[in-house]
Order: sequence, then C-alpha cells, then structure tokens
Amino acid sequence: MNIGIDKIGFYTSPFFVDLSELANARGVDPNKYLIGIGQKKQAVIPPSQDVVTMAANAADSMLSKEDKKKIDLIIFGTETGVDNSKSAAIYIQSLLGISNNARAFEIKQACYGGTAGVQMAIDHIRSHPDSKVLVLAADIARYGLKTPGEVTQGGGAISMLISKDPRILAINTSSTFFSKNIMDFWRPIQKKEAIVDGHYSTDIYIDFFLKTWSRYQKLYGQNLNNFKAIIFHLPFSKMGKKALNALFAKESGQYDLEIKRNFDFSKIYSSLVGNLYTGSLYLSLVSLLANSNSLKKGDQIGLFSYGSGAQGEFYTGKIQSSVPNLQLKNNVESLLNSRTKLSVPNYEKIYRDGIRADSENIDYDISSDHSKYVLSGRKQNQLKYLKQK
Ligand code: CAA
Repeated sequence: MNIGIDKIGFYTSPFFVDLSELANARGVDPNKYLIGIGQKKQAVIPPSQDVVTMAANAADSMLSKEDKKKIDLIIFGTETGVDNSKSAAIYIQSLLGISNNARAFEIKQACYGGTAGVQMAIDHIRSHPDSKVLVLAADIARYGLKTPGEVTQGGGAISMLISKDPRILAINTSSTFFSKNIMDFWRPIQKKEAIVDGHYSTDIYIDFFLKTWSRYQKLYGQNLNNFKAIIFHLPFSKMGKKALNALFAKESGQYDLEIKRNFDFSKIYSSLVGNLYTGSLYLSLVSLLANSNSLKKGDQIGLFSYGSGAQGEFYTGKIQSSVPNLQLKNNVESLLNSRTKLSVPNYEKIYRDGIRADSENIDYDISSDHSKYVLSGRKQNQLKYLKQK
C-alpha cells in the first residue's frame, strides 16, 4: 500500500523585511546576506499570528469536509508552542472543525518535530488504512535583533494530509536516523529567543547528513543515481548547498547536475521567507514541486530532516503528481507577493512586541492582518483566536 503526502499547504505572515535593507541597517555588505547566507527576504511574524493561527491558515483551504470527518489523528510539530501544557493541535481541531473522534497532540524536537509527525502518521495509516492524519509543522525562528543569527530568522507553517494512495509523494518505508545529545541550538523554557553556536551547528548538521546518508546507502543499497533530487531542512538556503557540496565531495558523477538544479528549485521559497524551523524541509518540498522543470511521476527524491540538539533523518519518497504543480505555485506565490514590506525600524518594533512579557489581558492590533485566522488577544490567560472571513 502506498502511503504519503496527499495534500500540502503553506502559510506565512503578511509582513516581511528586505534583507538588503537589513544588511545596510546593520552595517554589513548586503552580499553577505544575499549570497553568503543565501536569503533575500524574511517573514516577520506580528503578535496577531502564532503557530496555531499560522497552521490553521495553512490547513484551512486544503481540507475538504470529507477530510475533516476522516482525520482521526492531528499531530502538531513545533518548538514555539503557545502553552506549556495544552497542545496547539487541540486549538487547530476546534478552529478547523475536525472530528472530535481524533487523537490530537504536540511533539517537539527542534526542527525535527514535523518529520517525527510524518513518520508517525505513516505508521498510523499502515494500521488504519481508511483514516487520514493531519500533520502541522509551524514555528517562529527568533535569535535576537543585531545577533549573527538575525539574518536566519523567519516563520510560517506547513500542513500535510497523510493518507493511503497519496497524490503528492509516496513515502518509502526505508529511512535512517541518528540522534545525539549536542548543545548546538536550544531554547531554555524562560526564553523566547534561541541560544545557538552557529558555526558548530552547521558542522553538526553536515555530519548528521553524511552519517544518515551513508547508513541509508549501506542498508538499502542505493546511490546518488537513484535520486532526481535531494531536499533539505533549510535554516538558510546556503546550509543545503553546504550539505550537498559535502556529499558531492564524497561521490560525484553526471547525476550531480540534475540534483543541483533541483536543489536550486527547492530553495526558492525559503530564501523569501527564512527559517520555519520544523516546517522548513517541507517548504523545500513545496518549492521543488512548484518549480522543478525536470521531475516526473515515479521519480525518487531524498529528504534530509535536522533538528538541533540533535536528531537527523534521511528518508525517501516517490513523486505521485505532475510537476511543476501549478496550483501549488499560484497559491504560494500569490501569498508571498501580497505581503507588505516593513521598514527596519517597523520590523524591530514588531519583533519586540512579539517577545515582550505577556500580560494576562491584552488586545492585539489586527487591523492590518487580513489573514483568515488571527490571534486577537488574551483574556484571563486564555488565547483568543478569531476567524475573520
Ligand atoms: N559577500 C559574499 N559572501 C560573504 C560576504 C560578502 N561580502 N561576507 C561574508 N560572506 C559569506 C562568508 O564567506 C560565509 O560563507 P561560507 O559559510 O560559505 O564560508 C557566509 O557569508 C556567512 O558568513 P559568516 O560565517 O561570517 O557568518 P556569521 O558568522 O555572521 O553567521 C551563521 C552565519 C552561523 C549561519 C549565523 O547566521 C547563525 O548562527 N545562524 C543560526 C544558526 C543556524 O541556522 N544553524 C544552521 C544549522 S542548525 C539547524 O539547522 C537547526 C535550525 O534550524 C536552527
């Protein structure tokens, strides 16, 4: 039985900051951000959006009434949860009107939570073939104003419907993973911004990629010729390029060209949004499906997921639909093109508003956020979510 991603949706904030302007404000050569890091624009998440509203906005138009009845498992991967106890998945269930006969919970392992959700969903469908699983992967990446990590911030959400006979990507059962207690990036419970050892984290990322790839080759007898594309978790788009270069330094051949070309297609949207943490690998998938000019049904792709702390996983799947997926492309690009550019001082203000100590009662300004789902405020410590249209 083929099991995998049947539908995929994406949402990000209606606001962004231009990274050339940020570079100028920080006294840095813009080419460092544009070429050295590989990022052009960065999503800025206003207080009226959190991981719940972003995930609801990503999933809303993707789900039919029939899907909502059939979903019996909602898994929410995030490291930016909205409550220390209650899961974001329960909020999603009620906002989207999904059946109450469902399990709903949240999982966390830095940027790996979404992949844990996908793999768990596949196992669930294997034993309950007629059900569907909603996997959500949403985060807000914050390192702090004027820090080296600032250029790699961002945020947004991916939603995926996992089912049998998937129409997008059939996921193979073969997968390799590696985990180890490493302090490359973490966020203590009292902090809204991550602590990161940036250069160490990039080295560990590459190390975990090469380890899981080598084990995959060994266990499943595959080599690069079996792949048309390899896509990555992209904390910044240069990270994936570094990982691919490390792979090509070990193995090279004619396949390099197509894999390189498809990597370029997979990074387009990340470079305009920034790091989604756990949704980032799946934004690479969206970008590949929407833009590749060489993939066809049946082609095999590899996916590398990395969550600091650290967990890596390499798994594979077969394309099920025609590529480029023009509907997906239109949806994503109309969302990205309708965003409002913020000046650097306005970005800094919104950033500070997003991390200030939260009071028990607060109303957020939602007048310039026309997203379907918004967070309008907090009353007696309860989050107030609003459906606007
Ligand atoms: N023109 C072109 N390129 C330039 C340039 C210029 N004028 N000036 C510098 N560069 C290049 C540098 O040569 C360098 O390229 P290489 O990496 O290919 O050598 C690149 O720009 C970056 O320069 P620096 O290394 O000097 O940058 P930095 O020290 O200021 O910080 C960073 C870069 C470490 C990525 C930092 O932004 C950071 O800490 N980010 C957060 C951590 C992160 O994203 N880690 C990724 C792995 S962890 C993970 O994946 C989990 C997760 O999501 C966080």
